[in-house]
Amino acid sequence: MPFLEVAASIAREAGAILLQHLRQGIGFEMKGDFDLVTAADRASEKLIVQRLKTHFPEHGIIAEEGGGHSSSSPYRWYVDPLDGTTNFAHGYPMFNVTLALEMGDEMIAGVIYDPLRDELFRAALGSGAYLNDAPISVSAAPRLHEALVSTGFPSHNRGSNFNIHFYHQLAMSTHGVRRGGSAALDLAYVACGRLDAFWEFGLKPWDLAAGKLIVTEAGGTATDMKGGQHAIPSPHLLCSNGLIHTESLQLFSEIFRGEMRYPMPPVIA
Ligand code: IPD
Ligand code: CA
Ligand code: CA
Repeated sequence: MPFLEVAASIAREAGAILLQHLRQGIGFEMKGDFDLVTAADRASEKLIVQRLKTHFPEHGIIAEEGGGHSSSSPYRWYVDPLDGTTNFAHGYPMFNVTLALEMGDEMIAGVIYDPLRDELFRAALGSGAYLNDAPISVSAAPRLHEALVSTGFPSHNRGSNFNIHFYHQLAMSTHGVRRGGSAALDLAYVACGRLDAFWEFGLKPWDLAAGKLIVTEAGGTATDMKGGQHAIPSPHLLCSNGLIHTESLQLFSEIFRGEMRYPMPPVIA
């Protein structure tokens, strides 16, 4: 079976595990001050790693909850068994399973599965991007002024994350900024045109590996926050429909220089 088909079927199986846990009720533990983990994260990862080992015993696996293993093979899987754990733990319906396969230093396959909506986003390098069986492409929004964008805030080192400045400037420059709480779905939504751009500082490789490939295969653009090439393990990613990329980078560069087009309003009691 080709890599992508295997990944899709494993993601569907893992998604079913997440739904089972959701129905049973969810308890959670803390990995860090505000970083949650649930039994569902672990059960999903166990299943995914087992399946990958069976299909591809020689491949390396980097999995968020630590169940992976290194290998001398040029093939390496990135696994997020539950992306959107905080949402999941609160019953907020926005989470997914995501897997991507790298060969050498190139991502060659990626899937993102949303079990609640039964939506499977997938792409293989050079073969376009799909939502279930339909080809998808990025939006045609030509300017930030007409865009709906999204961002995220990692749960680790929250006090040093300066993204709130970007959030404010982008909120004032677009139709709005969403904070869905699931980076992989944010990227999938850019790929299918539900969002026009997504950015986040401090992502992990498993959050973005599949989504970045799916966006670029859907005709979008991915760079770091200054317009340079984004390469794993770089944690800072901007993805867009391509049309609003330069304009977004221009706004970002002003923010990096401390030049705010829209000052934060004073708080009035
Ligand atoms: C998190 C989500 C969230 C993003 C964080 C990620 P997790 O993944 O994708 O949207 O803002 O940076 O860590 O912890 O739920 O797998
Ligand atoms: Ca994640
Ligand atoms: Ca996760």
